[in-house]
Amino acid sequence: MQEDRFFTPREIAAALTFVVLAVLMGAGSYRTGFRMSGGNGGAAMSASTAAAPVNGQSLYATNCAGCHGAQAQGGVGPGLGITKDWSDAAFAEAVLHGKTPEGRNLSPVMPRFGETGLDGAPATDEQINAIHAFVKGL
Ligand code: HEC
Repeated sequence: MQEDRFFTPREIAAALTFVVLAVLMGAGSYRTGFRMSGGNGGAAMSASTAAAPVNGQSLYATNCAGCHGAQAQGGVGPGLGITKDWSDAAFAEAVLHGKTPEGRNLSPVMPRFGETGLDGAPATDEQINAIHAFVKGL
């Protein structure tokens, strides 16, 4: 009867098998979960930190065309053909701060995009240069 107090080799084998299986399953699901969250995290990060592509044509259309015309031919504001000869820095000075290369202050009708921003966000050099490139290409 004393034998009943001890595990038989069979019971020990069964218990070990159970433990080994549990560890394997745990490790497996841990690894799968890790891989999945790692992959998703990486994808979400690269999507949210990637800079939006800068498109001079659409920036011009939403911020400038209303006054300068769809083809920069002029409207409320003058045609922008003259700016083809301007450097990017001179163009940016006019668009951001309302000052022409000759040092003339543009009328207040022309927005100071350095203050108003573009599409509701602070204007970047890249955006202004892209608009300049678009206007020069017309
Ligand atoms: C609300 C109307 C309006 C909007 C919007 C506007 N402009 Fe103007 N812009 C003007 C007016 C008016 C002038 C002329 C001001 C003057 O001569 O004193 C002008 C002048 C300029 C000049 C100087 C041209 C020259 O011959 O000296 C440049 C360059 C210019 N705008 C670029 C832009 C760009 C680029 C955008 C968009 C990012 C833009 N403007 C948006 C009205 C506007």
